[in-house]
Amino acid sequence: MAMEAESRSDPLIWFEELYRSSGGNEEMIPWSNGDPNHLLVEWLEDKPCVGRALVVGCGLGEDAAYLAKLGWEVTAFDISPTAIGWAASIHKDLDIEWRVEDLLELPEEWRGVWDLVVEVHILQAIPEKIRVVAAPKLPPLLAPNGRLVSVGRVDRAGDEVQGPPWPLSREYILSIGGELELTSILFPIEIAQGEEVHRYISSWQFIPSEN
Ligand SMILES: C[S@@+](CC[C@H](N)C(=O)[O-])C[C@H]1O[C@@H](n2cnc3c(N)ncnc32)[C@H](O)[C@@H]1O
Repeated sequence: MAMEAESRSDPLIWFEELYRSSGGNEEMIPWSNGDPNHLLVEWLEDKPCVGRALVVGCGLGEDAAYLAKLGWEVTAFDISPTAIGWAASIHKDLDIEWRVEDLLELPEEWRGVWDLVVEVHILQAIPEKIRVVAAPKLPPLLAPNGRLVSVGRVDRAGDEVQGPPWPLSREYILSIGGELELTSILFPIEIAQGEEVHRYISSWQFIPSEN
């Protein structure tokens, strides 16, 4: 679906088409297993859970729900209206603001107000020509001392990849935070279905200058 959509005028439309064609069956959504991302869960362990968190491309909302249960005030958005309606119904008992928004055209009032911005598997799921426009939208969202965390796959030299997902280069991953201060970066290697999966989790903080 992704490859076919790339040749059309809207290369992101396949997300909505996939959610819609799944007919409400979560097993049809390849990135969704009902659990929050385990690297994000570990990363959050020593972080204070206070303030406003924004979940980018939230899909069926597992990460948003996890953050809300920890005590964050959560807004979660996705480009797919079907995903947002679905996530809202799955997590209807939680106080989460669900929004249909496009990372490429975010509301102006979202600039500079988030204590935490979470990006899990979005940048690796969109074509490079969109990714290079989308990633720079993330750092300006942070409030002073706010944190940005990004999770995905890292590429290995020599791998031939027909994405999505498109594993990201280490150099590119480092660039996601722009001018923010890099506070952590890990490259865990996991085994899934007998194959090595090379992942990353990287975080930055907006530390305002003193003058
Ligand atoms: C691979 S899925 C990951 C979903 C979720 N973060 C997770 O880990 O389960 C990528 C998600 O990004 C959303 N997405 C893609 N492009 C987007 C954009 N420009 N703005 C907002 N959401 C987008 C898709 O609809 C999809 O839900």
